[in-house]
Amino acid sequence: MERHITLGEFIIENQKDFPYAKGELSALLSSIKLAAKMVNEKINKAGLSQIIGKMGTNNIQGENQAKLDIIANDIFISTLKNRGEICGIASEELEHYVAFDEDMHKDAKYIVLIDPLDGSSNIDVDITVGTIFSIYRRISPAGAKVKKEDFLQPGDSQVAAGYLIYGTSTILVYTTGNGVNGFTFDPGVGSFFLSHPQIRYPEHGKIYSVNEGNYVHFPDGVKKYIKWVQQIDEKDGRPFTSRYTGSLVADFHRNMLLGGIYLYPQGTTSPNGKLRLLYECNPMAFLTEQAGGKAIDGETRIMEIIPSELHERTPFICGNSEMVSIAERFIGGNY
Ligand code: AHG
Ligand code: MN
Ligand code: MN
Ligand code: MN
Repeated sequence: MERHITLGEFIIENQKDFPYAKGELSALLSSIKLAAKMVNEKINKAGLSQIIGKMGTNNIQGENQAKLDIIANDIFISTLKNRGEICGIASEELEHYVAFDEDMHKDAKYIVLIDPLDGSSNIDVDITVGTIFSIYRRISPAGAKVKKEDFLQPGDSQVAAGYLIYGTSTILVYTTGNGVNGFTFDPGVGSFFLSHPQIRYPEHGKIYSVNEGNYVHFPDGVKKYIKWVQQIDEKDGRPFTSRYTGSLVADFHRNMLLGGIYLYPQGTTSPNGKLRLLYECNPMAFLTEQAGGKAIDGETRIMEIIPSELHERTPFICGNSEMVSIAERFIGGNY
């Protein structure tokens, strides 16, 4: 009989991959799983629970917050705080990081960065949204209050990263640096089951995802690349197919499974693009590389960027190595 592996079993089984692990990372991943089930439950009933629509407030990045942005933020923060595995958290929705400094957190060595609800402009029109998380070990001394520097580490220092996609099914996808695995939620049973073991980008891809409405603002290299993907060439299957939802998680997940490239370049009105390095790009870059792909800002590997601000933005290109390398050559003026 086929054995159905739950996320909980998988986490415990893979704990042995960490020579220093004492179970805290496993417990932290389990807490994320628990919070995700609660958020999933809210999202599924959003239209019935009077929780669609806007809050009437802006976050630090000037975005109009949706009610579910705040609900998802509160659920993740309170669940993670209550369980004592982390000593601090930073969120897209909060101006400052939050230090957890009660007795139960004093030995905690991990911090979390989170985009609690990704694609929130899609929530009211019933299109897929997500949650993105990124986990680091603190670098300040254990026992003391966390500092900003704990949150401003390069993506290469991530211990784990992943996302929830609340789509036709709810799937949790994560990596601890040993490949990428996906677990589909069975709402009847209340558990996530391994459904996408060792995800790898297909070698060749034919999908490109970019908000082409901003075309006029893009750098010349990106404009040339977009024209190139639209030209006919039977050899590599061009013209490629355009797919873009406005939820990074949805565009990323599809491109990783089917083969594609995602671009959010800088524009003349947004010199660093829109996506946030710490809450969106670093975790997605870690997953990309672990699935055999490539993630850059146009010229530099995303995970090598040294962050200077919690909410900093970066141009972001990720996907199949082959596709991203060609885009990189266009941007560098070498194609
Ligand atoms: P969030 O909902 O967390 O603020 O993220 C929105 C992001 C990302 O999910 C998406 O890819 C991008 O914004 C879409 O931006 P445009 O509407 O400018 O295309
Ligand atoms: Mn937002
Ligand atoms: Mn987002
Ligand atoms: Mn968000």
